[in-house]
Amino acid sequence: MLLGTSTNQHLAHALAAALEEPVVPLAYRRFADGELIVEVDDDAALPRGVVCDDTFSLDGRAVVVGSTVSDAAHLELLQLQDLAHEGGATEVITVVPYLGYARQDVAHHPGQPVSARAMLRSLTASTDRLVTVEPHEEAILEYATAPTDAVSAVHALADGLGPIGDDPLIVAPDAGARDLAETLCASVGRGTVDHLEKERIDDTTVEITVSETDASGRAVVLVDDEISTGGTMVTAADELYGLGAASVVAACVHPVLVGGAYTRLRRAGIERVVGTDTIEGQVSRVSVAEQVAAVL
Ligand code: R5P
Repeated sequence: MLLGTSTNQHLAHALAAALEEPVVPLAYRRFADGELIVEVDDDAALPRGVVCDDTFSLDGRAVVVGSTVSDAAHLELLQLQDLAHEGGATEVITVVPYLGYARQDVAHHPGQPVSARAMLRSLTASTDRLVTVEPHEEAILEYATAPTDAVSAVHALADGLGPIGDDPLIVAPDAGARDLAETLCASVGRGTVDHLEKERIDDTTVEITVSETDASGRAVVLVDDEISTGGTMVTAADELYGLGAASVVAACVHPVLVGGAYTRLRRAGIERVVGTDTIEGQVSRVSVAEQVAAVL
């Protein structure tokens, strides 16, 4: 039995198809004070195993699916976990394809919280297990108070890259994404890997240094775990074109793409942006449903 948040309907249905389990229809409304109430849509035909009349019950396990793309989405996920318990689910598994707040994995300055810890404690307080996809730092899963699984999306991403030539240069914009680039290269089965050096100046600005990268005439695939403002990819693409790259494609697992990020990427000459459906949007060309279903 799948329960998907309003932000991850597509993945919830893809996962349901892969697992051959139904999706529980839900309805949403807000109270006058703005609070969200999510409830089983008893006007819809309910799948076998779900009863919602004088009482509410659902048979078997419940898989709650939702990326915490916003504080509201986080709260909605907690509501769905509670709904699953309310219905008497035998087990509640929480799939959070994209874990928001994961980049706040340490207190970057004295006086700051470890927000990733607070986020994970909250998400795992009321679930039997948490499954996520390519978290920013896998070490943050140690903050969870329930068992966790981290699923790799790289093979799915490799299949969805589109034309990248016979000998692509697969580049991580910083050392932290090097493993991702290595795995992507192994998955596409050709090309070479390099990484750049990145220094973050502020939320939207980074400085990228290239050292011995030989991009001249190469088809480049830039790969990172997420694209948020696009600042990292735009700066990296500028440097690579400066070195004579023939083309640049940007790939990421989590296409957060805030504000005008997509336009910034295209204006930097990035030919194509490829992301997965951990976050639904215009570049979510690749589904991670099969990979997530495999661990469920
Ligand atoms: C940071 O270490 C991440 O791996 C990404 O590089 C970062 O989140 C991208 O953010 P933006 O698109 O805002 O540069």
